[in-house]
Amino acid sequence: MTTGTQAQTVTVRVPGKINLGLSVGPLRDDGYHELSTVYHAVSLYDTVTVQPADSWSVHVTGPWGEHVPADDSNLALVAARTLAKRRARKAKVDPVRIDIDKHIPVAGGMAGGSADAAATLVGCRELWGLDHLENDLLELMGASLGSDIPFLLHGGTAMGSGRGEQVTSVLARGELHWVLWAGEGLSLSTPQVYAECDRLREEAGVTPGPPEPSGELMTALRRMDTDEVAAALHNDLQEAAISLEPVLAEALSAGLDLGARAGIVSGSGPTVAFLVGSQTEAIDLSVGLAANGPTGDIERAVGPVPGAQIIHQRSSPEPPRARPDTDRSGPLGPVIG
Ligand code: C5P
Repeated sequence: MTTGTQAQTVTVRVPGKINLGLSVGPLRDDGYHELSTVYHAVSLYDTVTVQPADSWSVHVTGPWGEHVPADDSNLALVAARTLAKRRARKAKVDPVRIDIDKHIPVAGGMAGGSADAAATLVGCRELWGLDHLENDLLELMGASLGSDIPFLLHGGTAMGSGRGEQVTSVLARGELHWVLWAGEGLSLSTPQVYAECDRLREEAGVTPGPPEPSGELMTALRRMDTDEVAAALHNDLQEAAISLEPVLAEALSAGLDLGARAGIVSGSGPTVAFLVGSQTEAIDLSVGLAANGPTGDIERAVGPVPGAQIIHQRSSPEPPRARPDTDRSGPLGPVIG
C-alpha cells in the first residue's frame, strides 16, 4: 500500500483449478515429470484472511476444514514464513494468523493447498507493504513451494510446462460450465498417482516422449465451443487415478449417462469435472448425480475466473507501531533470522 495507512487484515479469494489437458512426459532426475498442461481456474473458492499476530498460526474452517492440517506442514503457513524469511533483510515483518475458509476439496486434484499458499502470498505482500514485489517474483517464489502455485496466482486458462510451474496465458474468450464431483471419503496422493501412471506405462511397454500441448484443445478454446472442448479434454493421469480408485469410472459414466458433454478426472484426482453446456444443464446434472451417482459432494462452477485476488481489507490510519525485535517466535518456533 502506498496510502500511508497500514493494512490490518487482508482477505484474498482464490479459485480451485482443473486441467483441461494434461500430458505427462518422462520422470526427470529431480523426481518430477515433465508436463504439458492446460490449467483452468473455476469458481469454487477458498477464502484466506491474514492479519498480524504475536505468533504464526493457521486456522481452517468450512466444509473441508477438518481435513486440513493446521500445523507447521500447512502449505499456506509455509508460504507466509518463506516470504517473511526472504524479506527479513529488507523489511521488518510481523508473524501472521492465517484463517482459511475451505471449500476446494482437499487432496482432490484441484490444487486446494497450492491455492491457499498463493492466496497467502498475495495477502502477506499487501499486509507487509511489499508493493515492489512484482507478480513475476511472487510466482517464482510460489514455484519453489509447489508446481501449481504460479497458476493459482495467474488464474484464467493457461498453459503449464516444465513441472507445471511455467505458466503462459491461453486465449480463451467466453465461459464454460462445470459440475464437480468429489467422492465421499476419497483422496489421492499426487506422488502415488504419478507413480501409478509410470507403473501402468511400464507394464504396457510404453515409453513416454516429450509432452505436447494439444492443438485440438487450443483451437476449441479459441472458439470456446463447448462440444469441441468436450471432445478435446484429455488427462494422462486419469487411468492411474481410476486404477487406484475404481469408483471414479462409475462416477464418470454416471455423469455421461445423465447428459454431461464430457467428464474428466481433475489433475491427479479424485475430483471429477463434468463439462455441460449451460447453467440449466449444470443444475440438471447436479440434481441427477445427487440422486443417481456414487455418493459425493457436488458443486457447480464456471471458468475461467481470475487467480488469487484481494476482496477485502481493513486498514488502520495509524502509522505502524514500532515492534520489539527480540521475540519473533511463537508456538511454531522462530521464523526470522
Ligand atoms: O509440486 P508439488 O509439490 O505439487 O508436487 C507434488 C508431487 O507430485 C511431487 O513430489 C511429485 O511426486 C509429483 N509431481 C510429478 N511431476 C510434476 C508435478 C508433481 O511427479 N510435474
